[in-house]
Amino acid sequence: MPDMETIVSLAKRRGFIFPGSEIYGGLGGFWDYGPLGVELKNNIKAAWWKAVVQERDDVVGVDAAILMNPAVWQSSGHADSFVESLVDCLSCKRRFRADTLAPGQTTCPECGGELTAPRWFNTMFKTFVGPVEDDAIHTWLRPETAQGIFVNFQNVQTTMRKKLPFGIAQIGKAFRNEIVTGNFIFRDREFEQMEVEYFVKPGTDEEWYHRWIEDRWNWWLGLGLRPENLRIRPHEKEELAHYASACVDIEYRFPEPLGWAELEGIANRQDYDLAHHSVGSSKDLSYFDEETKEHFTPYVIEPSGGVDRAALVFLLDAYHEEQVRGEKRVVLRLHKDLAPIKVAVLPLLRNRPEVVAVARQIAARLKPHMNALYDDTASIGRLYRRQDEIGTLYCVTVDVQSLDDQQVTIRDRDTMEQIRVPIAEVVDVLRAKVTVGNQGIGDQEIRTQQSPDSLIP
Ligand code: GAP
Repeated sequence: MPDMETIVSLAKRRGFIFPGSEIYGGLGGFWDYGPLGVELKNNIKAAWWKAVVQERDDVVGVDAAILMNPAVWQSSGHADSFVESLVDCLSCKRRFRADTLAPGQTTCPECGGELTAPRWFNTMFKTFVGPVEDDAIHTWLRPETAQGIFVNFQNVQTTMRKKLPFGIAQIGKAFRNEIVTGNFIFRDREFEQMEVEYFVKPGTDEEWYHRWIEDRWNWWLGLGLRPENLRIRPHEKEELAHYASACVDIEYRFPEPLGWAELEGIANRQDYDLAHHSVGSSKDLSYFDEETKEHFTPYVIEPSGGVDRAALVFLLDAYHEEQVRGEKRVVLRLHKDLAPIKVAVLPLLRNRPEVVAVARQIAARLKPHMNALYDDTASIGRLYRRQDEIGTLYCVTVDVQSLDDQQVTIRDRDTMEQIRVPIAEVVDVLRAKVTVGNQGIGDQEIRTQQSPDSLIP
């Protein structure tokens, strides 16, 4: 496992992730995704959407507004309960989360100054809607995407004629004015969530809770995460969010000092949200069961993961260093669906126009089918190293012999094996490799057979 600094440095050097507004000294807890980072994030989101929405009959998607009527946050409990307890140092003015200080700590751990008593601090960002500040409506940037789903429960259920059990999925930005940020993109103030609110008949919630834990566990393994770096941890009663009756975290073993920490939570939110929105909005959000002729408020199972945390975990888990002919090779063994670039087409001799022309033509023919690029900015050895380090699945090399025999070399990222393939067949061969079967994680099928039940204490 690499340390966090190794990944921060690779992410910066290779164009995955930069500090937000870096030329002005940055802004704590905000990060910008570069050309490779945006591809990785898009691939994570696409893999999630495919598994959670498109491959299922019982889940549909929405894309709700980030800013909502402030009454939403009163009803959801966030206006009152989305709080952290913090203390301030009267000397150095640093602010600490009370639960991160040692029990009985009375002085500042940084400067030894006097600490204030703990105070509650709401971590939602306030903002104004409307052109005149005095008359403007005061609301908050959403701290979770879930509420955009709950307020649309009835719209979706009636327009899509959905019967229980069914889910509504959403991917989108969320904002929290975290007191402590850090560990790179692990805890940000602006981040993205991938959430499902899965509505079920009360009494079936326990069964669906376990089914979703299993589905989500298998999704992470199916994208190649190493099982020894994943575990499931049920929440203690005192840890549960204000809306949840039960919750487990799927945790990843991050490099120290972070260690095991949450990647995704799966919670039983019961009827908390729909019941509170029914009262708050004076709209009946109950469901009519045609079979039993009963009205009731559905219970909700919520799998909720972070896109940024997922990106960090996939980078950490994929990072490998190995010795090849006496030299260190760094390779990101990202799953084929996540790799930002699938194929790089490289001319062996960049000063031979005929070789360059063939390589450019192959890249152009690949582009409609997969994310492919042409690169001639360095010697072939350096080009291979760069592509290995960003996780590119295949390199196609065009050499002088290609002009005679109309064949090129395809090099596999993980095995470094090379095969010669007729130029006319390159697109088909690579399409088959990139879209069918597994890449670099040979035992993926076996891993997805694992059940997490044995891991739930
Ligand atoms: N709707 C439920 C909810 O928001 P959460 O455990 O607070 O639950 C869900 O957040 C997921 O969102 C987490 O598992 C994590 O992946 C991600 N997340 C939460 N806060 C984050 C932060 N400050 N920075 C990055 N990701 C965060």
